[in-house]
Amino acid sequence: MCGIVGYIGSRSVVEILTSGLRKLEYRGYDSSGIAVHSGKEIKVYKAEGKLQNLDDLMQKHVSETASSTLGIGHIRWATHGAPTTVNAHPHTCNCGKLVIVHNGIIENYKELRADLEKRGCKFRSQTDTETVAHLVAYHYGKLQNLTEAVRQATKEIDGAYALCIMHQDNPNVLVATKRNAPLLVGIGEGEYFVASDVPAIIEYTKKAMYLNDNEIVTLTRENMDLIDIDNNKISSKIEMLPWEPVALSKMGFKHFMLKEIHEQPDVIRNVLSGKLFNTDEPINLSEVNLTKADLKKLNRIQIIACGTSLHAAMVGKYLIEEFCGIPVDVEASSEYIYRKTVTDEKTLVIGVSQSGETADTITAIKQSKERGSHILIITNRPDSTMARFADSLIPVNAGIEVSVAATKSYVAQLISFYLLAIYMGEVKESISQVFSKNLKKELVILPQKIEQILAHKEIIQRCAKHYSRYKDFIYIARGINLATSLEGALKLKEISYINATGYAAGELKHGPIAMLDETMPVLAILMKGSVYEKILSNAEESKARNANLIALTDSDDPKLDDLFDFIIRIPEVSEVLSPIISVIPLQLMAYYIAEFLGKDVDQPRNLAKSVTVE
Ligand code: F6R
Repeated sequence: MCGIVGYIGSRSVVEILTSGLRKLEYRGYDSSGIAVHSGKEIKVYKAEGKLQNLDDLMQKHVSETASSTLGIGHIRWATHGAPTTVNAHPHTCNCGKLVIVHNGIIENYKELRADLEKRGCKFRSQTDTETVAHLVAYHYGKLQNLTEAVRQATKEIDGAYALCIMHQDNPNVLVATKRNAPLLVGIGEGEYFVASDVPAIIEYTKKAMYLNDNEIVTLTRENMDLIDIDNNKISSKIEMLPWEPVALSKMGFKHFMLKEIHEQPDVIRNVLSGKLFNTDEPINLSEVNLTKADLKKLNRIQIIACGTSLHAAMVGKYLIEEFCGIPVDVEASSEYIYRKTVTDEKTLVIGVSQSGETADTITAIKQSKERGSHILIITNRPDSTMARFADSLIPVNAGIEVSVAATKSYVAQLISFYLLAIYMGEVKESISQVFSKNLKKELVILPQKIEQILAHKEIIQRCAKHYSRYKDFIYIARGINLATSLEGALKLKEISYINATGYAAGELKHGPIAMLDETMPVLAILMKGSVYEKILSNAEESKARNANLIALTDSDDPKLDDLFDFIIRIPEVSEVLSPIISVIPLQLMAYYIAEFLGKDVDQPRNLAKSVTVE
């Protein structure tokens, strides 16, 4: 994971680096650092913990850094070595003249380190990155050319990297390169920016170039040179970024997560617009580059994703099988990539990812592309690495999601799956016109139903306050809401650090029921429909074991009041659409519990928004 930034130009570099790092905080936030070139020497500043600590440190050094116009910066999510100041980037070679920031993992760092130690290098950190600093410095010692030294070093490196490097003896040079990690160069007037992601630079320029794997760019204040790892000159592919400067404002909400939960009605309207014009007309999904004949021929679909996106994929499976009768497998990307999978040119592979940068999903997509499958990507970042592998691309249009816990992107992914499944069902004529029309009518009014839930959120707040003293939770559901139970439990775990597990309610009696007593609340997702009565019986079984019972339901049956200790009632919705609204109270429940417990809601410990390492 980690985020990197670099700048060469005429502006004061510290402000550009720290504001860029602030926009990349979603990539990690356990330590940070910057190195600036004064024209004569390089100075390195690092701080453990949140970015604010680096900001505070830089305040103390304003006078010595104000005139610097060349520098690199890094925000870290620790992989090799604890999140300490010494392990924070930038890393330097032994003479301190060469500095480097890195995103990725150097897989052969142990071998490289052993070799470099034999050559006399003294290592100070436990990171894989420091190896690259010494390796480039070693080649620089022989070649006296920074680009050439970087090129030689990258030939020896295995693994994933985005690197930005400068050298004290080159006050007009910044070098950057990448392999299997994102990196782009922003182009200004007499200035260049390097960053892991667009938000870090969009405030300054919309003109940019994405680096491809094994390309090395050399930036001076006047010029940009691009070569590949074999020293072939490459012409740069400059593009205009379709982005506006990112407003990272909480808009009066205490946390980004709460703001993003509240954005969901508008996110749904946004995703539907342009695709669902009129409930009498078929869904318009021109993004799917498969002919009707291709779609009709499909006999197998695999959906690959991680975390919350995996839960959206589970709902997607349910819908596609229900509406189209095509068998669908859902698999965690990290599992898919290390086994022999039956994927071929007759398989449609759907990759789902908020960030489009999740390393495991990218690897899985690459593997299935090599096997000849059509790749359909559902992502919130149409400019991401994953999107570049897409044969069909459905952007989910949720807008920038800042909070680490995914909320609005999940709901946007769900809506995308509903559109896709209805679209495929209409093309295959496997659903009736009446069915699809009714579904579309209901989809359109879902935002209002979510607004009703948000308008009465104090009920969920009360529930959260009461239950925030418990240490373990079980969430139960069946059918299409099984994914909702997993997602609700994941939200609670990740931001409050409370142990919560989602179970298929029918599985409870095959083991988990042994854990039930008065210390273990059971939250039942009890939506009206085919499995309502079954879940009710599972709730009864839990009550008989003294569990404290919470219902999340669209039923107004007064009998529920006798069985459940707490009831969260939500507007009625047809069973097939219920995952879209049943998840909202669970997001709020997790949010309020974490808030009562005083947790860092938007930046929970040990996590990063974009998991760019396998
Ligand atoms: C949970 C969460 C993660 C992500 C997972 C995949 O709130 O955000 O579980 O869903 O890391 O990330 P993407 O969707 O970017 O591939």
